[in-house]
Amino acid sequence: MVKAEEVRSLGVVGAGQMGRGIAQVAAQSGLGVVLVDQSPEVAKAGVERIREALERLVDKDRISAAVRDATMERIGVRDGLADLGACEFLIEAAPEKEELKLQIFEKLGQVARDDAILASNTSSISITKLGARSGRPESVIGMHFMNPVPVMKLVEIVRGLPTSDEAYQVTVDLARRFGKVTIGARDIPGFIVNRMLIPLLNEACYALYEGLGTAEDIDTGVKLGLNHPMGPLELADLVGLDTCLYIASVLHEELGDDKYRPCPLLRQHVAAGWLGRKAGRGFYRYDDRGQRL
Ligand code: 3HC
Repeated sequence: MVKAEEVRSLGVVGAGQMGRGIAQVAAQSGLGVVLVDQSPEVAKAGVERIREALERLVDKDRISAAVRDATMERIGVRDGLADLGACEFLIEAAPEKEELKLQIFEKLGQVARDDAILASNTSSISITKLGARSGRPESVIGMHFMNPVPVMKLVEIVRGLPTSDEAYQVTVDLARRFGKVTIGARDIPGFIVNRMLIPLLNEACYALYEGLGTAEDIDTGVKLGLNHPMGPLELADLVGLDTCLYIASVLHEELGDDKYRPCPLLRQHVAAGWLGRKAGRGFYRYDDRGQRL
């Protein structure tokens, strides 16, 4: 298995908000990044969004124009999964759909170098299941970043039942190279962070559904009453309501406890396509740059 200091190139599967954030922090920390998505056009659009994020850091004097350019030079786009064979470390950040992730891990198991580590940014799907489908379960691990990736300090590292100690240590070291703090979690639905977060967000949906207050009241109550940086409904919009519903459903089904049942209002928002910030509408409305209207 690859050693921590041998990891030079990171393959990122998925150019959505999490994949872009991971690609950005990896490139900023000096790694070469290869980004793939359903098509090279989607991946290229993701790279453009990374350029915009770096541009904002230049505007705020957080990084120089030279660092921006060097970071961008480290990020490349390829056609698809079959082009990730040279990367020492692969991380999947595709939408939270089990069958999709299983197919990706099956393919990665076929194309990745023998000594590569295959990580998933999944927020709820079993790492053990993904590992089994890859055909090399000892090399498969969860590397769960928080949104927005460039700002949030934590990475939750999740070991599947057969994940090796070596894969765990290399993943911890890589997260530290990105400037992150890690925690270890068992491969049980929701891991640690979402086991805490999703019931809070779901309960906020119930509070709105039952008319306890307006969305603003609920968010202000949690922000100022509990000192959270964001209210639960605006945070649900940031995470994506489809993702929140998916994780809530996994907790409900796999832990079998009705306390996790997803709120009907959350289901309705997802059915309406009001998926949160990325869709321009969730519990709040947003412009096409994701700013609250
Ligand atoms: N991307 C990059 N940087 C961002 C950003 C984004 N999307 N949003 C904000 N930032 C940066 C800002 O540029 C700013 O940087 P600066 O200090 O260098 O100027 C800094 O973050 C602070 O931003 P703001 O001043 O605009 O606003 P806030 O002080 O309110 O911070 C926040 C924004 C960091 C998003 C803060 O509100 C926060 O921490 N919210 C909670 C986020 C959270 O809980 N995330 C975890 C979600 S759970 C998860 O991801 C797991 C998944 O599986 C569901």
